[in-house]
Amino acid sequence: MLDVAVLVSGQGSNLQALIDACAQDGFPARIVAVISNNPGAYGLERAKKAGIATSVINHRDYDDRESFEEAIDQELKKYKAKFICLAGFMRILDGRFVNRWKDRILNIHPSLLPAFRGLHTQERALEAGVRFTGCTVHIVRPEMDDGPIILQAALAVDPEDDADNLSRKVLELEHVIYPEALKLVALGRVRISGNKAVIEKASYPEHGLISPEPTKV
Ligand code: GAR
Repeated sequence: MLDVAVLVSGQGSNLQALIDACAQDGFPARIVAVISNNPGAYGLERAKKAGIATSVINHRDYDDRESFEEAIDQELKKYKAKFICLAGFMRILDGRFVNRWKDRILNIHPSLLPAFRGLHTQERALEAGVRFTGCTVHIVRPEMDDGPIILQAALAVDPEDDADNLSRKVLELEHVIYPEALKLVALGRVRISGNKAVIEKASYPEHGLISPEPTKV
């Protein structure tokens, strides 16, 4: 069983998808804590409703990024988290934190990476006139919205779409692929090879974190 902390800043609909997945029989991960930099994040309410421990580490209470991230790290240790899912966590994590948790942080981003890193992705996708958009779950690297891709889902852009309804449609896809990606990682089926993630075909239950070689069972 993989012990996961989820970091949120806002609504937490992806957090909810992860909570619901973890509640299913046999799901290979559990959420040990939800941490937010934003005391008003609705994600904290979702966690409380699900009986999950919550912490607020408000970035405004810290002088610099390093001490903010050190506080998050302490909290992760307190909950004995072994893996992190960023679910609408809107603070950039610096290289030191990311390297400390190397290959142990997942992020979801509302574009088909490497296109449209950053904010306002659907507005930019519409401006660029792309025919497809979607979302990506990837392992976090120090560059923003960068790292080995685990899963993506795409949808065709309807000429009638505006940024709001496109975001809503993409969010629905996010709720499908984020739990699926976490499951693959927790089953040990994801191997990182350079800047790519390789998904092993067979399933190797319960041996935990991403490992360089699948455990023989
Ligand atoms: C989601 O669309 C997620 O992909 C995006 O923020 C939203 C959070 O929604 N994340 C990023 O843009 C990260 N670069 P949620 O709080 O309802 O899960």
